Amino acid sequence: MSVLVDRRDGGVVLVTIDRQDALNALNVETLTELRDRLRELAEDESARVVVLTGAGEKAFVAGADIKYMGSLAPDEAKAWGALGHEAARLLEEMPKPTIAAINGFALGGGCELALGCDLRYASSRARLGQPEIDLGIVPGWGGTQRLARVCGLGVAKDLVLTGRMVDAEEALRIGLVNAVVDPVLDRALEVAAKLAEKSPGALRVAKRLLNLSPGALEREAEEFGDLFASEDAKEGLAAFAEKRTPRFTGR
Ligand code: CAA
Repeated sequence: MSVLVDRRDGGVVLVTIDRQDALNALNVETLTELRDRLRELAEDESARVVVLTGAGEKAFVAGADIKYMGSLAPDEAKAWGALGHEAARLLEEMPKPTIAAINGFALGGGCELALGCDLRYASSRARLGQPEIDLGIVPGWGGTQRLARVCGLGVAKDLVLTGRMVDAEEALRIGLVNAVVDPVLDRALEVAAKLAEKSPGALRVAKRLLNLSPGALEREAEEFGDLFASEDAKEGLAAFAEKRTPRFTGR
């Protein structure tokens, strides 16, 4: 099991992604497990607030598993994108607050899962970003839409087009996280305990209203998959696994 569910007092539930040898990057098994646990928690009235974090000292989630993606055909990449979208959508839409405790790297799909959460707290050593462009692909689990919604289009274009990582202080300045605090999990659990005392019905409606806005999430899932037909995607994904700099040709 690589997704641990720990039920705390008062209806706070801590979900920990634990695949530390890959910096908690999500392969099919782990992402499916995460999606299944989130589905259960969405339905479970005794779960009042969900906190999501990564195991270990180094990473929240270092993204989708790049080694797995290296061999995906466009149709498979679409299904993979859809699975990540479902997990992020569950975090965004489940009728109770969700909080990301970002304890290290939150890159690519990791940043996108954090963006699905209602609140984001970061440790001072957190590093966030959407580095997909350097793999010859694009964010595929909601990043192009949610990053723009959370931080504004200018910031989203900067991070998605350059693929650069931001440190915790910059993440706070651009509104990507709500606070930088150590130890981050303690703060997230503290806020969760406070939220768990509020009216679940009012929280549910507040969250639903705050989420009302048109998006283009389906379009993102579609085009993410299409890119896997390109040689550049194959080159970018293979170069990571082979620990070398990719050579992009435009094909
Ligand atoms: N997928 C698969 N394996 C990963 C991974 C990922 N996303 N991130 C890290 N790992 C693995 C590394 O390959 C390495 O494994 P080995 O020991 O077997 O070589 C292990 O985790 C430790 O990583 P590093 O040795 O690279 O650790 P570091 O401290 O030197 O660097 C890092 C840390 C900067 C986060 C670096 O690991 C890195 O750049 N990772 C990739 C980040 C990334 O590009 N994420 C986006 C993925 S694409 C995506 O998520 C698409 C989407 O939108 C759905």
